Amino acid sequence: MSQATFDFGMIGLGVMGRNFLLNVADHGFSAAGLDLDAEKANALEQEAAGRPIMGTTSTEAFVQALSRPRKVMLLVPAGKVVDSVIESLLPYLEEGDLIVDGGNSHFPDTERRAKYLADKGLYFFGAGVSGGAEGARKGPSIMPGGDKEAYEILRPVLEAVSAKVGPNEEPCVAHMGRGAAGHYVKMVHNGIEYGMMQLIAEAYDLLKRVGGLDVPQLHQVFDQWNQGALRSFLIEITAEIFAQRDDLTDGWLVDAILDKAKQKGTGKWSSQNAMDIGIPVPTIDAAVSMRGISALKQEREAADKILNPTLTSDATVDQAEWIEQVGKALHFAFLVTYAQGMALLSDASVEHDYDLDMEAIARIWRGGCIIRADILEQMRQAYSTQPEVKNLMISEAFSKDLLATQGAMRSVLREGIAQGVPMLAFSSTLQYFDAYRTGRLPLNVVQAQRDYFGSHTYERLDREGIFHTEW
Ligand code: 6PG
Repeated sequence: MSQATFDFGMIGLGVMGRNFLLNVADHGFSAAGLDLDAEKANALEQEAAGRPIMGTTSTEAFVQALSRPRKVMLLVPAGKVVDSVIESLLPYLEEGDLIVDGGNSHFPDTERRAKYLADKGLYFFGAGVSGGAEGARKGPSIMPGGDKEAYEILRPVLEAVSAKVGPNEEPCVAHMGRGAAGHYVKMVHNGIEYGMMQLIAEAYDLLKRVGGLDVPQLHQVFDQWNQGALRSFLIEITAEIFAQRDDLTDGWLVDAILDKAKQKGTGKWSSQNAMDIGIPVPTIDAAVSMRGISALKQEREAADKILNPTLTSDATVDQAEWIEQVGKALHFAFLVTYAQGMALLSDASVEHDYDLDMEAIARIWRGGCIIRADILEQMRQAYSTQPEVKNLMISEAFSKDLLATQGAMRSVLREGIAQGVPMLAFSSTLQYFDAYRTGRLPLNVVQAQRDYFGSHTYERLDREGIFHTEW
């Protein structure tokens, strides 16, 4: 029987769990891992190589090996598995112990679990962990939410394992807020991730179809973009994707990949909750819709034969100029997408009583996570100088860049539309920008129509009160 001396426990020794645990051990903490699959538990012990790591398949042995208050992290698939793992722990845990769910759980589930466990004297943290397998191993961005005082117990280990940014090695983790705040922030992170990924895909299409770039040229362009205003993890990996040859043919791998994108739900949940609380995030909605449209491969191929676009423009563009315009348009779109995600977070903070610190979110997204980008430092500064800003688009930092790039966005859309290139995310960003900055929208007509057919009433610009007209 192991002694109760292990600092940290991990349940689920798949790629993420194993890597995260090894990262914990690298930082001087002793770590126990539990997996019902004996092969995974043994593999962990073998990898320990002299470090204080134990692997087991026994829940009892695992819990008893941990020093109190026990810190148990779960990296298991979101959904019912989380509930059943929690149930399996309950006979062994004691008051004051902490459970951290590091998966992509839906925030209402986290809310429910936190209440259930609080009644039993246990602390439950929903913690978003971003950065994939490599992040888990070398430093992810971590978004924990839950009891603020109990967070102090977790803080040393989470700060040690997280990514570090800047000359002062600032950790990419912070207490996000109350309740399910951590999983909510991670959900919106993923919504922004969906938006950026779709925007990059559209930029690729525009460069390829309108600009005529081949794969090696695409590699060069993305590589170059990654050295300027667009510098980000997603641009960097896309540059690398365009450098990958195919093992099975003599072409480029990207050309061989089926154009149907899968999804696990976090992007959709962002759109759903944004609708529920009435905050528009059209670029995220567009990205989710595009995954849906991509899945209709057979229908699209059939429609391609019937509706194959007769282009109204087959103008050739100047390639160098086109690359520059698309790059600026993408920069514009990234800024708008971040602004939408942050506007959602800032409203959700009030709606769900999370008490989010917007600057802290920008700070911990600067490293380790999938949406890390130079823009995040710009965002952090915007929140530090204008903490009450309602929408980042009107912050000094963002508005200047948006005004400088909107012209390029308009030119790119003009040409893309003329040539029939689908740009749901690109166009959504510009439409959101244009709508947001329009002081008087035509929705007065919608109000009039509502009153006309349903006596729903309307308000007036020139006087107070509720009005109805017999039209
Ligand atoms: C991250 C990622 C990660 C996962 C996505 C994939 O931050 O590390 O977001 O959590 O790769 O959730 O999501 P889809 O399968 O829905 O694209």
